[in-house]
Amino acid sequence: MTHSYRFPADFHWGAATSAYQIEGSPLADGAGPSIWERFAHTPGMMANGDTGDVACDHYRRYRDDVRLMRALGLQGYRFSIAWARVLPEGTGRVNQKGLDFYSRLVDELLEHGIEPNATLFHWDLPAALDDRGGWLNRDSADWFAEYAGVVFKALDGRVKRWSTLNEPWVVTDGGYLHGVLAPGHRSKYEAPIAAHNLMRASGAGIQAYRALGKHEIGVVFNIEPKYPASDRAEDIAATRRAQAYMNEQFADPALLGSYPPELKEIFGAAWPDFPEDDFKLTRQPVDFVGLNYYTRAVVRHDPGQYPLRASPVRQPNKTYTETGWEVYEQGLTDMLTWFRQRYGDIPLYVTENGSAFYDPPVAEDEVLDDPLRTGYLRKHLKAMHRAIEAGVNLKGYYAWSLLDNLEWSLGFAKRFGLYHVDFATQKRTPKATAKFYAQVIATNGAVLDD
Ligand code: BGC
Repeated sequence: MTHSYRFPADFHWGAATSAYQIEGSPLADGAGPSIWERFAHTPGMMANGDTGDVACDHYRRYRDDVRLMRALGLQGYRFSIAWARVLPEGTGRVNQKGLDFYSRLVDELLEHGIEPNATLFHWDLPAALDDRGGWLNRDSADWFAEYAGVVFKALDGRVKRWSTLNEPWVVTDGGYLHGVLAPGHRSKYEAPIAAHNLMRASGAGIQAYRALGKHEIGVVFNIEPKYPASDRAEDIAATRRAQAYMNEQFADPALLGSYPPELKEIFGAAWPDFPEDDFKLTRQPVDFVGLNYYTRAVVRHDPGQYPLRASPVRQPNKTYTETGWEVYEQGLTDMLTWFRQRYGDIPLYVTENGSAFYDPPVAEDEVLDDPLRTGYLRKHLKAMHRAIEAGVNLKGYYAWSLLDNLEWSLGFAKRFGLYHVDFATQKRTPKATAKFYAQVIATNGAVLDD
């Protein structure tokens, strides 16, 4: 039986990055420091002592990078804006030079026929706001709306697709509960408050957009489907908790105006009674939702795991990426169909999907062969197509990532790029996956046919 993987005619193909991971020059042209600038310069926090000081030097090489996008035939580019470039103190004074960088980037993209898709917050909170309590301060919703308003006014004429936040779960789980990401806190009491304020901020940003913007705005969640390790009741309950904690904690207040009851069970006395009125703010109409998908988790009850009492189980005979994630493409189909069932027929984008695998050093003018990454992409695109066939309103896909970049506290060693980056010389080299993705785009998926 042959199967056609041609995608809908208006399907949108793109690639994604984020500011701190690629830009470099984090303090240039009057920018204020972000919490990632601080975290990366705190001894012991980053693998290999890596920082975003230079990263892919995209702040200075963005024109060349837009050419790389053009060579792939990208229709869209998803990037994030560094809040502290635009408002060095987080609120108040606008730094025009910082805003100008994004303005130039957007112009360059449009000149090359690539649609800009801007995320307002991809984890790099201005350090000055962290000094005022960061996401633990309820005023953060107002700070965010103020910043969003400045950016909308400057760019909405040219940027037609916006997201408020990228993956708030990672911000709170990594940054406030386990301390492995900025700002490096470890508190069961703080994590729910930061989570709630992030979603209040997202709501306030969407409200600001309705007053100032003319196009589309949404929010981006990471979704990792959870499957029980056995049919034992305790594993099923642990799976339910893991599912609520990671996949519903943020989408529920945004789209349903409530929290799943499991969160109170997980956090116990640390789960606050949030004012009912807050959900009017968190639940704002969105034009789309972006979903980031990398892997799944098979879950087992584990009383030693704080605070979830659930832990992932490694699967035998499966391929794992360099970040330790099982390659499980069916999870992408399952996640997209689950999302539609729970939250309704909202237009969806896969705003990130990709894999870190070891890449050998590259020789001059060579295309780097990366069969594991190409296989990952191929499988996930097919899985995405199956979701569309099942009726999911999926509008587009952004590969993570355009370039090898700073994988946060894991440093530069984890390479997710379509283009290989030699961080000593800044030379970009296309990987075979980039060539393959260009064919996918050129044939609107038909190259996947079997
Ligand atoms: C984030 C990216 C990150 C990627 C791979 C997502 O969690 O949005 O910034 O690099 O996954 O880990």
